[in-house]
Amino acid sequence: MKGQAVGATINQVRLRIIQGDITQQDTDAIVNAANSSLMGGGGVDGVIHRAGGPAILEECKQIVARQGRLATGKAVMTSGGNLKARYVIHTVGPIWHGGSRGEEELLASAYRESLKLAAENHLGSISFPSISTGAYGYPLDKASRVAIRAVSHFLREKGTCLREVVLVLFEAHAFKAYTEALNEIIKVNNGKV
Ligand code: APR
Repeated sequence: MKGQAVGATINQVRLRIIQGDITQQDTDAIVNAANSSLMGGGGVDGVIHRAGGPAILEECKQIVARQGRLATGKAVMTSGGNLKARYVIHTVGPIWHGGSRGEEELLASAYRESLKLAAENHLGSISFPSISTGAYGYPLDKASRVAIRAVSHFLREKGTCLREVVLVLFEAHAFKAYTEALNEIIKVNNGKV
């Protein structure tokens, strides 16, 4: 049973939290939780490359040839290949080492740099997976709060063409964690995100 979508409006931008498969989203861009090599991998990186087809990897190879590996917290954009989304924004989240190696700021940066890239390209909508909470081991309860705060801070700070930001959680327990995080942030901020 898919969790019901929840959300909030921040500076005229709709933030939605849904349970689903990011490769099925028809937002202008979807975000890939990549690694620095940009050569694909498992998890959401694997499903995006499989669903998007070889064109995405080809563009990633050209990016790496031009500017080298992608640093943690940074983002680059390719076409969406065979995906419904027109673009894929690849970002690298931090590997969790217990929280004392700047993981929180690097995770926030991954969201912020992806949003910046979407805004610079005048995109109207973007979908994120739960970056770093799979193979990279970032605890869901912490990552969900960092993600929501980073997105809401960016949207408050800048007026952009963005009208919709969707956080797409694959598993029910992840959807629950993000929903709880959003509700807690709303409660703490007197009804605002
Ligand atoms: N749609 C949305 N979310 C998904 C999907 C999907 N189709 N498939 C997996 N996920 C979720 C996972 O359940 C997890 O919550 O994406 C989240 C991120 O998990 P990972 O894909 O493992 O990403 P991350 O933890 O950032 O690790 C990145 O793993 O796949 C490799 O190449 C990648 O080295 C990089 C590392």
